[in-house]
Amino acid sequence: MVRAIRQYATPALAKGERLNEIQHMASSRKTPETPACYAMVHEGLESIAAEEIAQSLGGEIKRLGSGLVVFRVPEIDRSILTLRTVEDVFLYAWGTDKLSYRATDLESIQRWTDRDGDWDHLLKIHHAVTPKPKGKTTLRYVAQMNGVHGYRRIDASKAMARGLAGKLPSSWRFVDENASIEIWLKIDGAMAICGLRLSDRTMRHRTYKHEHLQASIRPTVAGVIARLADLKPGQTVLDPMCGAGTLLAEAHLSVHGKKGVGGTEWEMNYLGGDIDAGHVRASLTNLRQFGIAGIENWDARQLPLDDESVDRVICNPPFGKQMSTPEEIDPLYRQSVREMDRVLKPGGKSVLIVSDAAALRAATEHVGWKELRRLGVRLLGQRAFIGLYRKAAE
Ligand SMILES: C[S@@+](CC[C@H](N)C(=O)[O-])C[C@H]1O[C@@H](n2cnc3c(N)ncnc32)[C@H](O)[C@@H]1O
Repeated sequence: MVRAIRQYATPALAKGERLNEIQHMASSRKTPETPACYAMVHEGLESIAAEEIAQSLGGEIKRLGSGLVVFRVPEIDRSILTLRTVEDVFLYAWGTDKLSYRATDLESIQRWTDRDGDWDHLLKIHHAVTPKPKGKTTLRYVAQMNGVHGYRRIDASKAMARGLAGKLPSSWRFVDENASIEIWLKIDGAMAICGLRLSDRTMRHRTYKHEHLQASIRPTVAGVIARLADLKPGQTVLDPMCGAGTLLAEAHLSVHGKKGVGGTEWEMNYLGGDIDAGHVRASLTNLRQFGIAGIENWDARQLPLDDESVDRVICNPPFGKQMSTPEEIDPLYRQSVREMDRVLKPGGKSVLIVSDAAALRAATEHVGWKELRRLGVRLLGQRAFIGLYRKAAE
C-alpha cells in the first residue's frame, strides 16, 4: 500500500539513533507541498549529517538508512546545496523497504516511478533551485544496487525509465556524465529510494581542490571532522600531516562567514605541515585562496611548535596500506599522538581518522585523552574510524 511520507512523521532522532526502515513512502502527489528530500552520505556518518541538516537548514529528520538521511525542510532553496557533510542531495520521489529481491520488483519500480513520483512538481523545484544551463537540457538515469537480487542493476534502471515514459520532454538529450537533470535509483537490500538529484559533482568534490593526492580524504568526511572539532572563534587549529590540505580547508569553510560578538568575523589561526615537500606544495596551492599560508615541511613526531599552543588538532595519518610496512603504524601513531598532546592546550580537542583503531587507541590511551565520540565509517569499501578526544583540563 502506498502511503504519504507525512503519515510517517517521527520525532527528531536522538543522537546516534538509527532507523533503518524506509517503509514504502510516496511523495505527496495529491497535495503539491514541499516534497521530502534525502541526502547520500558515507556509511556511518548519517548521524552527523542529520545533525548538520537539522542545525543548518532547520530540517526535520524522517529516516536514517545506511548511507542515507531522509528529511524535510520548510523551504527548498539553494541553502540545501551548502551542506558540507553529505555527498549529494535529492528531491524525494518514492521509497520502500519492502523489495522482494525477486524479478517482480521490476514491475513495482516501474509502477512507483510512474504513479508515486510527482515529477512535474519535482522538476519545477529543481529548476527553481539550480540555474538552467545554457543549451539543450541533458538527462541521465543512475541506478545503484547493493545486495543479491533476482535482476540486474540495468534491469532496475530500465524499469525506472519505463515508469518515466512520457513524463519528461523528448527533446532532452541523454548523456553519460554530469547531466543537468539526473534521476537516481538506489537499491540496498530490501530498500529502494528514487529521486531527482539537486546537487552536482561540486557538492562532493568541492571547487577549491586544484591539487589532488591519492591519499587525500574525501572532502565531505573532512567536513564531518571539522564539524566534530567544534571550532570556536580565535582558536588555533593544527593538522600535523596535512597532505593536500583538505582538513584545514574544511575547517576554514566550516566557520567562514560566522560572526562573533560585535559582528566581527571569527579570526582563526590555521597551522599545517607534512613530511613530504610535494604535499606541502599541494596544500599551499589549495589553501592559498583561503589566506592560509602557515604550512611547513616538518616531521609530525617532532613539531616545531610550543607546548600547549593549539586548541584543536585534526589529522588523517597514513592508513596502514599507505605505509611501506604496516608495522610502522604503531610507532608513528604513538610518537605523533604524543607530540599532538604536547602542543595541545589543556582541555583542547583532537579529531583523528584512521583505519587501525587498535593502534590509535593504544596511542591515545598512552597520553590519557578521553574519547568523546567514535564513529565507524566505510570509505570506498574500506573501514575507518573517526575518534573525537579531549585532553584533560588542568
Ligand atoms: C592520508 S595522508 C593525509 C591526506 C590529507 N588529509 C589530504 O586530505 O590530502 C597522510 C599524510 O601524512 C604524511 N605523513 C606521513 N608521515 C608523516 C610524518 N612523520 N610527519 C608529517 N607528515 C607525515 C604523508 O606525507 C601524507 O601526506
